[in-house]
Amino acid sequence: MAKEDLPAIAPPATTGQPTETASLPPRTDHRRSFLKGLGVVGAALSVGSLLKTDAEADDDDHHHRRFIPRGDVAILRFLAAAEILETDLWQQYNELAGVQDDEVPGGSGNAAYAEAVNALDEDMSQYIHDNTEDELTHELFINAYLVSKGAEPVSLDKFRNLPSSKATGAQQIGRLTNLMQLTVDTTWFTRYRSRSQNPDFGDMLPQAIPSLAVGQHPAIPRTDADVQEGNFLQAIGNTAGFHFATIEQGGTSLYPQLAQRVTNLEVLRILLSIGGTEIMHFQTWSDKAGNAPPVSATDPVTGVSVTFPDLNSPPLGGEDFQTNLIMPEPTIFLNKKFPACSIIRPTKTMGAAKAALDALTADGLFIGQSKEFFRFMHTLAFEADLARREDF
Ligand SMILES: [Fe+2]
Ligand SMILES: [Fe+2]
Repeated sequence: MAKEDLPAIAPPATTGQPTETASLPPRTDHRRSFLKGLGVVGAALSVGSLLKTDAEADDDDHHHRRFIPRGDVAILRFLAAAEILETDLWQQYNELAGVQDDEVPGGSGNAAYAEAVNALDEDMSQYIHDNTEDELTHELFINAYLVSKGAEPVSLDKFRNLPSSKATGAQQIGRLTNLMQLTVDTTWFTRYRSRSQNPDFGDMLPQAIPSLAVGQHPAIPRTDADVQEGNFLQAIGNTAGFHFATIEQGGTSLYPQLAQRVTNLEVLRILLSIGGTEIMHFQTWSDKAGNAPPVSATDPVTGVSVTFPDLNSPPLGGEDFQTNLIMPEPTIFLNKKFPACSIIRPTKTMGAAKAALDALTADGLFIGQSKEFFRFMHTLAFEADLARREDF
């Protein structure tokens, strides 16, 4: 049988538990270990039929073109899930405050909420639409690529059970994410403005909007009652504006973090190319969040208060904190002996997938999700975090 005619390899079964394939291979047995990692099943073909002599392997780059190491598969599968979750949350924003069209269908808009969001920038609706479409393409591309390599794509469809907003404009369908009880980490605002600190050195940066980082806040109207009172409506719009950047700074770090552990150059190209768009998203939202109108409001349903201060005043303000700073201030990187450098931060790779999942969880995005959902996501993160760059 010609090597290029080998039958497609059946994907590994998803067990919801870390699989044997996640353990690290001995460095001397890469070819065999990556076959194992791809979940080769005896019924489809024997492992022996795929094993080749070193000479055959060296002559044949079809093999490398067709298969990718299991660590790369694990990283791509975690990223596929992350992109599905991103698509789900951006879709909810787009239905209410974005542009509903052929590229991003669904929903019919909520004029009052869209106006509050557009107080941050008149192009917000267009940017929400574009960000939503980007996430959808990331999700579809990574899954299609996995399939092309004989690996199992990721579906979270069985977890689409969370309720939709009841406000005018939202589709009434099951969701993966909850945008109505968020606790938004706003440390990215100070982190990218710091000239002396970096979370990779253990630094903890202060919150830009401390009251948004505690309690639970809606980032979309839950019902039409939520758009009736001006200050509260603007607070919901501002919450969304900060949440946009919080989500995208996560992707901005996650892709370079995981890229350090992929082996195949094409997979590296995918991570660098998609990761770059996450950075573009983050920078856009970072700019818009700085325009959030100062406002204080109390949630009439929960009694939780939030205050969006004037970000150009103390304790922020000053040259390093002016709100139109949208490029990173240079800071410490790798070792303090080096000069400060303008960089993405953090980029340390160990445990990055779990850290990303924990951050999304702490955000409140998964409030209401099942134990099975968390088990499935933690398994994907665990396997991604086990991936190591292999030496071929
Ligand atoms: Fe994405
Ligand atoms: Fe993103």
